[in-house]
Amino acid sequence: MKRQENYSLLEHNTFGMDVRAALFVEYDTVDELHAFLQAGDLARYGSYLHIGGGSNLLFAGDYEGVVMHSAMRTLEVVEDADDHVLVRVGSGYVWDDFVAYCVHQGWAGVENLSAIPGEVGASAVQNIGAYGVEVKDVIARVEAMAIDGTSRTFTNEECHYGYRDSIFKRELRGKYIITHVVYQLEKTPTYRLDYGDLRARVEANGEPTLQAVRDAVTVIRDSKLPDPKVLGNAGSFFTNPVVLRSQYEALKEQYPNIPSYPIDEEHVKVPAGWLIDSAGWKGRALGRAAVHDRQALVLVNLGGATGQEVMTLAERICEDIYNKYGILITPEVNFI
Ligand code: EPU
Repeated sequence: MKRQENYSLLEHNTFGMDVRAALFVEYDTVDELHAFLQAGDLARYGSYLHIGGGSNLLFAGDYEGVVMHSAMRTLEVVEDADDHVLVRVGSGYVWDDFVAYCVHQGWAGVENLSAIPGEVGASAVQNIGAYGVEVKDVIARVEAMAIDGTSRTFTNEECHYGYRDSIFKRELRGKYIITHVVYQLEKTPTYRLDYGDLRARVEANGEPTLQAVRDAVTVIRDSKLPDPKVLGNAGSFFTNPVVLRSQYEALKEQYPNIPSYPIDEEHVKVPAGWLIDSAGWKGRALGRAAVHDRQALVLVNLGGATGQEVMTLAERICEDIYNKYGILITPEVNFI
């Protein structure tokens, strides 16, 4: 187990904030995690934060508590049936390495979620999603440890998954640490290609394959989303707001191009990226923070921005969107 005081988090957050943790702990096994939780450091330091790849975090400054990270990177097939496999994966496994592995094995279900930054543990907290698929569609169960050291397995239903949402972000926030996720992957693919121009891109080279989907998704993402190694960012900064259909219809009178995705009879989801873009924010900077010039949903660190600078930009955008469209957009990124 790695245990270090006054530890730089620069390599642990994709926004590129050069901040420090009072104590950083990285464990390799469930037993190490258990021993650490029993040792009393969490109580001594007063607060803790468990991170994954740091791709959904914005630090305001140094973190005075304990930052924990899983280095559990095991992958084992726990059930091999005629039509599917159940794969149990350690929380510290890099998400996209897992997707690459599945595609290579011919296991279907996660190929649309290619090239998403982050790790397996966070995938199950955040319910990551892209191109018509959410990870909840393939999660069979989630193994976790409570901070008192007791273990619990959550079924998919018990995780209360919603759009970028789960019980681990709400009632159980800060109470459980995810140690493993068990995914169910299919041996016969059902291709989901109805998002944007994904089908056209995949079928340009003939019959779809898992690898062709992975390649097409990666190309689309690379064309819109900045590489955090070049330009610090945390992917979508805001979630897409869900609004009443009546409100959407009224807006459509005024803005005929406003896109939407159906949710239910009464609600639709409106892309925050469209709202921010059409309000004129795309590419605009405020100090060292800016709105990305190819996807307005992404805020970027132009170099040396503080967390507060990014938050100030986010607040200005929220205010402006509310004044223009009467829609409240909320950050997806965790401000620490
Ligand atoms: N749009 C604009 N201008 C922009 C950005 C978007 O007009 O600057 C419009 C697009 O033309 C399109 C619509 O908004 O009509 C949707 O855009 P896009 O397909 O890029 O997806 P999104 O709704 O902005 C969501 C996810 C992304 C995910 C994509 C693809 C959220 C918060 N974001 O973005 O997830 O990759 O769909 O499925 O749901 C992430 O979570 O970090 C992330 C990148």
